[in-house]
Amino acid sequence: MESRVAAHAKGKVYVDKLFGIGMAAKQAIIQYGKENVIDASMGTIADDDGNIVCLPSVEELFRSIPIQDMISYSPVAGLPSFLEAAVTHTFGESRPDAYIRAVASAGGAGAISNVIWNYSNFGDTILTHDWYWTPYETICKDTGRHLMTFSLLDADMTFNLTSFSHMVSHLLVKQDHVVIILNSPNHNPTGYSMSDHEWDEIIKHVILESAKKSSKTITLLIDIAYIDFTKDPVNARSFMKKFSNLPSNIVVTFAFSMSKGFTVYGQRTGALIGVSSSKSVAEEFENAVLVTSRSRWSNVNRGCMTLLSAIYNDKMLLNKVNTEREAYQTLIAKRAEVFINEAHQIGLSILPYHSGFFITIPCIHPDEASEMLAAQNIFAPPLSKGIRIAACSVPLAQMHGLAAKIKHAITISDAVK
Ligand SMILES: Cc1ncc(COP(=O)(O)O)c(C=O)c1O
Repeated sequence: MESRVAAHAKGKVYVDKLFGIGMAAKQAIIQYGKENVIDASMGTIADDDGNIVCLPSVEELFRSIPIQDMISYSPVAGLPSFLEAAVTHTFGESRPDAYIRAVASAGGAGAISNVIWNYSNFGDTILTHDWYWTPYETICKDTGRHLMTFSLLDADMTFNLTSFSHMVSHLLVKQDHVVIILNSPNHNPTGYSMSDHEWDEIIKHVILESAKKSSKTITLLIDIAYIDFTKDPVNARSFMKKFSNLPSNIVVTFAFSMSKGFTVYGQRTGALIGVSSSKSVAEEFENAVLVTSRSRWSNVNRGCMTLLSAIYNDKMLLNKVNTEREAYQTLIAKRAEVFINEAHQIGLSILPYHSGFFITIPCIHPDEASEMLAAQNIFAPPLSKGIRIAACSVPLAQMHGLAAKIKHAITISDAVK
């Protein structure tokens, strides 16, 4: 095949398994009717009729935004009122005592790629947990970085500090810059959330210890895409206080996304928030990230930025949005409870789920299990070591009996090879 792309772009092909499964589910719905199809692939909230949800007050406000405000350019850094609201929303009552800067991004994904680009060198290795959102890998590959993993969970199904510590030390020997991506609370794909005690251990025993030993830069990239889908979103932020007054060779960044928390997935609005004890490190963060924003996507969705500013300018509206979101959080929790209870009853092992959009069932042959399920009109995407169920979108009624069907498919597919 003739190739004309530059050397670094050779062989690039994007296979979107998730999109493929979603399309297959839609096709099956047309063919067999939605009551006969379980689409467990979609990472968006759907109501119990299977329709994607926009929080009602978000929809009302979004439709009321003047067209000029929708279509105008905005500053590359983001509207100041949006950035203030994004920081307030991210930290809640747990704002760290540090210099904090924020720059608008094209969703959480844009924030993640911006950190990787600016805080690691070409050829470096980025660290994350072995269960992870696959775009981390796509971003790394596309920017000439590698992705390496530590084991998220130990034998007790809690955070694997030993594996984490080992991999951080390993990378610090090789590189001057180490970027670590941690997705919590409500990790995708498992629904795991690190406890405050686990965060203490991560920060005190690994990050601080390592930062003391050398002047190398450790950048924590905390992916909080699902943070608002815990029973207690205020407490879910309490770990953030721990990032106060850290040494200046530890840069802490948060990928804030409006996609899930405000149900505006396709509007591509988020922010990268940087936290440092050093004013100059914080200013450098803002400058570097801003240039990358300008060069990649310029400015982001102005209407959506206006939306967040307006919500944070009106306490009653903010309460309304929070109440509406909580109702959907409760619905997702109910669906997850049905699945998890049935899984326990029939002896189907699942990874620890605290809350959030997804539940993961580990298995040996995920592709085969997913195909077997698809043959029964159950669409659940395969991961590298399991299959994922979107509790955010499967109607409650369809959750009943799903664990048994999955157990059956896994038992057969795992026995095949
Ligand atoms: C783990 C995780 N991080 C970040 C994101 C970012 O989403 P977006 O770019 O839509 O803000 C997602 C979306 O699916 C996700 O699952």
